[in-house]
Amino acid sequence: MGDRSLVVWSLERVAELHGDPTPQVYARLFALNPEVEALFMLDSQRGVKGAMLGHVIDTLLDLAGPRLYGANMIYAEMTNHSGIGVPPAQFVTFFDVVKEEFRALIGAEWTAEVEAAWDDTLEDVKRVVAKVEAAQAA
Ligand code: HEM
Repeated sequence: MGDRSLVVWSLERVAELHGDPTPQVYARLFALNPEVEALFMLDSQRGVKGAMLGHVIDTLLDLAGPRLYGANMIYAEMTNHSGIGVPPAQFVTFFDVVKEEFRALIGAEWTAEVEAAWDDTLEDVKRVVAKVEAAQAA
């Protein structure tokens, strides 16, 4: 069981060290999935990308903390994204991309304990996604 307060610490540490990580996160997403970049074609001002990353960080802060709305946010956005051609299996990869980019941005300060806390929190995300997929398949 990871200490989830380390997820909160790492989200704050990225902001301290790098300010807004939106460009780095999407550069990693598009390097991994080049075909996804076209979906954001109309987003010249990065408004949607920034807003989306903001929602993902809010979801992580909730799952690492009070767990009041994170699962519902994932459920609602999974449904919305299915409607814009982003299937659940792809939707969930965004959380892994954020983790990997934040690990790179934090560097040596990213300890095994921080890694365990993120893995623990992302297990929650994957449990919610699997539950929604099972419910939609039923
Ligand atoms: C690889 C995975 C993902 C892709 C390819 C993707 C793609 C997109 C695209 C193309 C839009 C703009 C839709 C439009 O213009 O109508 C969007 C918006 C949004 N996405 Fe994602 N998404 C992903 C994962 C996620 C995740 C994991 C969440 C949150 C849990 C999320 C939350 C949102 C929100 C809240 C918006 C609306 C932003 C705004 O304009 O206020 N997305 N997404």
